[in-house]
Amino acid sequence: MKTLWIFAHPEARSLNAALRDTGVAALREAGHQVRESDLYAMGWKPVVDGADFPARERPEDRLLVGDAQEHAYRTGELSRDIRAEQEKIEWADTLVFHFPLWWFGPPAILKGWFDRVLVQGFAFGVQDAEGRTRRYGDGGLAGKRAMVVTSVGARPSSFGPRGIHGYVEDVLFPVHHGTFWYTGMAALPPFVVYGADRSTEADVKERQEELRERLRNLDALAPLPFRYEAGGDYDADLVLRPELAPGRTGLQVHSA
Ligand SMILES: Cc1cc2nc3c(=O)[nH]c(=O)nc-3n(C[C@H](O)[C@H](O)[C@H](O)COP(=O)(O)O)c2cc1C
Repeated sequence: MKTLWIFAHPEARSLNAALRDTGVAALREAGHQVRESDLYAMGWKPVVDGADFPARERPEDRLLVGDAQEHAYRTGELSRDIRAEQEKIEWADTLVFHFPLWWFGPPAILKGWFDRVLVQGFAFGVQDAEGRTRRYGDGGLAGKRAMVVTSVGARPSSFGPRGIHGYVEDVLFPVHHGTFWYTGMAALPPFVVYGADRSTEADVKERQEELRERLRNLDALAPLPFRYEAGGDYDADLVLRPELAPGRTGLQVHSA
């Protein structure tokens, strides 16, 4: 297995840094190849701006950022740091996205990695032989698997199906479904550390052991059962057919 471990935490003495060290070491001990993107250590630039793609010939033309990114991707003119990340993604069969949950999502530095690296023509906006856009279960990253490793301050019950923070699978839906599945990557069940702010040394050791155990079975782990856009479950307007999950709405209807 070839795993790219993308890490978004600023502090080398953090719980998450300890988990990252454990995770990367466990994979290597099991004979897997691992490459890393430690976003803070790399000084990753998190914002899309004009330096990412060359200036247009006619500056008066309206610019669609997605088109500019795709053009620069196709002509090899995307900035070097973006191309280096895309090369790592192409190399990997599994991607681990490791971050503390900040304001119900990944830290801005990782959001900026998504914005800058997963460009149109590379990760999404690619078409099949019939000219249909490949999305949700298919796309530029089809065949790869991706897993979130994250930690949260809150306790597990409060992230349960009726917990005050919302169900953790709903909270992670934008990453799992909107980013992984949209680009074709199978989303593996997340590894979530709860109550992270109050964890003792003993807790950290336990979580490290749990992560080792999870990674031991990484190859065999069944992905989240999201529905394929092209699998017949959605109508021409991209609405789930009424006979599926009848009477239900909400994010969970997109799981079979
Ligand atoms: C900016 C910021 C936003 C946070 N937002 C959340 C949140 O939305 N939900 C939550 O449960 N914890 C939240 N937390 C708590 C962190 O998830 C927690 O401190 C972290 O997982 C602990 O891991 P660390 O010691 O490796 O940083 C937040 C913390 C910070 C600093």
